[in-house]
Amino acid sequence: MKRSPIALLCTIFSTVGGGAARAEGTRPPRPISEADIKAGKPLYMRECSACHGERGDGKGPASAFVDPAPRNFLLKQFKFRTTASGDPPATADILRTIERGLPGSAMPSFAFLPEQERKQIAAWVLNIADLIDDGEPAPIADPGTPPPATPASAARGKEQYAALGCFNCHGALGKGDGPAAKGLADDDGHPIPVRDFTGGIFRGGSDRKDLYYRFTDGMNGTPMPSFADGVSDADRWALVDYVQTLRVPLAAVVMSKDPIKAGRMVTARYSCRGCHVLDDGKGGAVGPDLRVSGAKLGSDWVRAFVQKPRETGKIYPWRVWRMPHLGVTPEEAEVLASYLSAMGHRKPGPATTPEMASATKEKLDEGQLYYTVKCAQCHALGKLIETPLAAQQGPDLIKVAGRVDYAFARKWILDPKKIDSNSRMTIPGLTPGQVEAVQTFVWSASLAAKTP
Ligand code: HEC
Ligand code: HEC
Ligand code: HEC
Ligand code: HEC
Repeated sequence: MKRSPIALLCTIFSTVGGGAARAEGTRPPRPISEADIKAGKPLYMRECSACHGERGDGKGPASAFVDPAPRNFLLKQFKFRTTASGDPPATADILRTIERGLPGSAMPSFAFLPEQERKQIAAWVLNIADLIDDGEPAPIADPGTPPPATPASAARGKEQYAALGCFNCHGALGKGDGPAAKGLADDDGHPIPVRDFTGGIFRGGSDRKDLYYRFTDGMNGTPMPSFADGVSDADRWALVDYVQTLRVPLAAVVMSKDPIKAGRMVTARYSCRGCHVLDDGKGGAVGPDLRVSGAKLGSDWVRAFVQKPRETGKIYPWRVWRMPHLGVTPEEAEVLASYLSAMGHRKPGPATTPEMASATKEKLDEGQLYYTVKCAQCHALGKLIETPLAAQQGPDLIKVAGRVDYAFARKWILDPKKIDSNSRMTIPGLTPGQVEAVQTFVWSASLAAKTP
């Protein structure tokens, strides 16, 4: 194991308790059943494998564009624990990470999933990491309710910060630029920057208790050591208080007026690039190429979707993954909607719809006929024309109005590959007049479905 000497030393000092329990095989079983593990696998594939990989090796299709890299679970190293240094995580630790996410990294919060599903996913992660048979490790003694933070405790914490050598890595002012900070790497060989405390963002949570656990237990697999012994409880809380004072309040971030530049800032914050190709043509293929989506989608739809992606059902039946709920704010959603229309060279605004006055009975009948012959094999149209789920390749077109731009769809249906060479939609070979009939039929059905 590649571990800095200081981290190794701390590990040796502090794992005695946990190690002894493991040696005697006295750990109680984890609160996980075989059924949880089994149910967790497909959920993991849908929600986590894009980043962490199907096998859990951290090499999912989005991983190449994500920094810090998604965790390789096969190495069994977990940073955010309540257990002693060197010990595996408690089941509750994995659950906490899944529920809260890791702020400042691409790891999203999955609080939007039902608790039961989060538990099943945690079971599968522990199974991949082969950490079930060893049983449930004991957490360190609960530090209890922190004493009130005072200027005196922060001053005492400053002394501890110097005495314990935190400054060596984290720097005198907490900027992560101490003399020992350069060239550090984690156990997976990824370069690892020391945390900059001035940003005030902590992956394991910024409650005082979270910070207490971080330096008391260390962060397994990284150079961040554990300081388990020889520090009094009062001094630990003092250290927490001092670290919190190092935060420099951010000036309100000014968004550029250029929609592309502003969009790049927001997409960087949420690692959208890991899953989507962005304006410069680079990014992952876990979700659609957003240049195509920008040309296709109405701005209202985009704004609503990026804030609550799970409220629409699954869009693309053939995609394995789903878009996680990322906690995008309304202001950011506005920026993202403008960004998408700018990269799709589309005038921002709602999706265009057809003039329904031209929807004569003949035209609708003609459209329905072409639809049945040319489209129904891949697309369902709500309950109007049902296509078996296994056969569905494209989105359910009953949801098309308000989402897909009518004018865009005209060009798309005539020649989808011209717009997106990777599209799975094969050209149905219709004349422009026939396309208009099909569109009139589909849009009138979709609009009717929206107004009950
Ligand atoms: C968009 C990419 C992405 C997705 C999707 C994702 N993760 Fe992560 N995950 C990360 C990254 C990046 C890290 C590493 C952060 C770090 O090392 O500080 C991480 C770290 C973790 C960790 C390690 C925590 C620790 O204590 O060290 C766990 C556990 C985890 N993820 C579980 C999951 C589960 C379960 C899912 C699906 C429900 C999931 N992740 C989905 C990106 C992702
Ligand atoms: C040998 C270098 C080193 C020393 C000494 C060190 N740290 Fe760290 N620390 C790190 C690194 C590297 C990280 C980032 C780990 C990561 O990103 O996974 C880190 C991260 C942290 C975090 C962030 C946790 C989070 O949730 O994001 C806290 C808090 C922290 N250290 C506190 C301390 C305190 C307090 C001390 C002194 C008692 C200390 N560190 C000493 C290297 C060090
Ligand atoms: C972990 C991967 C992941 C991340 C991160 C992610 N997405 Fe997605 N996104 C997806 C997937 C998968 C879909 C397709 C969902 C479906 O079929 O139901 C999607 C769909 C979309 C759509 C609909 C596109 C269309 O043409 O229908 C938009 C818009 C979108 N994402 C924007 C974003 C933005 C903006 C971000 C960053 C703020 C982001 N996504 C982050 C995976 C991701
Ligand atoms: C061979 C399967 C197939 C056939 C046949 C097909 N499509 Fe598609 N269609 C797709 C797929 C797949 C997509 C999603 C884009 C992608 O993955 O390339 C799509 C996307 C669309 C979209 C965009 C929908 C959205 O919500 O994003 C429209 C509109 C559409 N198709 C209309 C039609 C019409 C009308 C026909 C018949 C004239 C048709 N398609 C025939 C597979 C097909």
